[in-house]
Amino acid sequence: VTIIFIEHDGTRHDVPASPGQSLMEAARDYGIQAIRADCGGACSCSTCHVYVAPGWMGRLPERGPMEEDMLEFALEPDPERSRLSCQIKVTGAMDGLELHLPAEQA
Ligand code: FES
Repeated sequence: VTIIFIEHDGTRHDVPASPGQSLMEAARDYGIQAIRADCGGACSCSTCHVYVAPGWMGRLPERGPMEEDMLEFALEPDPERSRLSCQIKVTGAMDGLELHLPAEQA
């Protein structure tokens, strides 16, 4: 599947992703710098924060309690559209998912 990452300056990356890996892993493997992912996907850093494009939020699995807690440490989290990309596993239904990257990670 292809996941679309849009940088803060508008640069678009069409990132190949495989079902089973996390969105963070797909971005990291592709070399997207704006996803720092300091903790390596353990849900303990918040530097894999992304904003989900309108229309997609309801099509993703819901946040778990650890993700909710950790998101509070992200820079400018938005309750409507913030997610931690390491906590979402890619599925075949996510082809074309659009994620916007924050200007900075906390
Ligand atoms: Fe650290 Fe996602 S990579 S919380």
